[in-house]
Amino acid sequence: PSDVGILGIEVYFPRRYVDQAELEQFDGVSTGKYTIGLGQSKMAFTDDREDIASFCLSAVQNFMEKYQVDYQSIGRLEVGTETIVDKSKSTKSVLMQLFRDSGNYNVEGIDTTNACYGGTSALFNAVQWVESSHWDGRLALAVAADIAVYAKGNARPSGGAGAVVMLVGPNAPLVMEPGLRSTHMEHLYDFYKPDLSSEFPEVDGPLSVVSYVRSVDECYRGFLNNVERVDGVKQATLANAADYYVFHSPYTKQVVKGLARMGYVDFTRQPDAPEYAAAQAFRDVETSASYTLKEIEKTFVGLTKPLLTNKVAPSLLAARDIGNSYCASLYFGLASLLSEVPSTELQGRRIALFSYGSGSAASMFSFRVRSSTDQLAQHLALRERLDSRTKVAPETFDQIMSLRESTHQLRDYTPTGSLDNLFPGTYYLENVDGKFRRQYQRT
Ligand code: ACO
Repeated sequence: PSDVGILGIEVYFPRRYVDQAELEQFDGVSTGKYTIGLGQSKMAFTDDREDIASFCLSAVQNFMEKYQVDYQSIGRLEVGTETIVDKSKSTKSVLMQLFRDSGNYNVEGIDTTNACYGGTSALFNAVQWVESSHWDGRLALAVAADIAVYAKGNARPSGGAGAVVMLVGPNAPLVMEPGLRSTHMEHLYDFYKPDLSSEFPEVDGPLSVVSYVRSVDECYRGFLNNVERVDGVKQATLANAADYYVFHSPYTKQVVKGLARMGYVDFTRQPDAPEYAAAQAFRDVETSASYTLKEIEKTFVGLTKPLLTNKVAPSLLAARDIGNSYCASLYFGLASLLSEVPSTELQGRRIALFSYGSGSAASMFSFRVRSSTDQLAQHLALRERLDSRTKVAPETFDQIMSLRESTHQLRDYTPTGSLDNLFPGTYYLENVDGKFRRQYQRT
């Protein structure tokens, strides 16, 4: 098969959000801390009616209906998530109930987990299956989904929730490019979930931020080397290596810093270039010290501002208005770019993506836009759908977070959340029985 990549993409996010400016007031922090300091505008959340399986059921079923894909035509389904409700039974296996009527039980693939990186691994697996000797001619689905909730405190405004489904196959409008991918992985305790009785992670915020930036640095250097080799470019830089850059977004300010780090990498690769006159003081800074030096960050945030506007900003729509959806975050970025930039401008362009999962696992890879993305954007209708949500007061959000916390992993439990708070066509948790078995229905 040739031109293997993304044939279609659909997103799911909850109907309700909390406004970050109102949350600043409610939390008693300084005005601007979440909206400017983190660069967040709204945060999606849900109550006890939804869990990771219902999110994925909603996303996949909505995808299949919109694109009119037959369940028979799917030969592989991968799920990337770190929202775990069962230590053994995969979310993928729960999704198999959608295949029942089609009679298709011959579907490879299972869940992949490492913080926000699982979705990327799911996508890579799907693409590689289609490109492999084991491919049977059918299509693959890659699902990236999470419900990101934090304990009360400074990490809570960096939550969010959502799911993305991508259909993978040959002759795709978005072709995953061979030869450019670059990866960085290491052992770290920056963000992890050792307490299986809680939805909340253990977080070392400052370490996670440094690790994100170091991963950008390492992956981007490898990506540039590959671009130079594959494209025959003499000096690859932010300006010529790709037309758009999409990042995993814990909050959009971190993306700004990620891009700034790439500007810094460009500088270290050609420190004498005239555009870096303002950065000469950083020539001799040790790499290890460079990650936390505020002056470097500030200087390169400034120097990369035009690139931020032209090559990154369109991909931040959902990130700013949904928040972190962990595995789904990067792919909400891709969906945002496809929604915000007209197909005529995207065609022929390269989109580079940076995926980061704490712990840590990170990759930079790319797509070439081969043909029209109009249908993808129309099906997404992203802005319209984001604007059709309901704002909820921070007090209510806070109560709902407590409800989720106190009912997490209960058996013999019937959720109390009203079905009116769900979009039409949403799967919801109807009941958890005495053996922890979960039943779902659709609005
Ligand atoms: N107006 C404007 N800016 C403000 C204001 C204000 N009133 N108040 C604070 N700020 C700025 C700060 O200067 C800081 O900016 P900087 O990052 O450029 O230095 C920024 O807002 C954040 O403020 P902090 O005091 O550093 O924030 P805090 O420590 O309370 O929390 C953190 C931030 C660590 C990111 C926290 O939200 C967290 O732990 N989140 C979860 C971990 C995370 O998301 N990590 C990212 C990668 S890993 C992943 O994706 C999970």
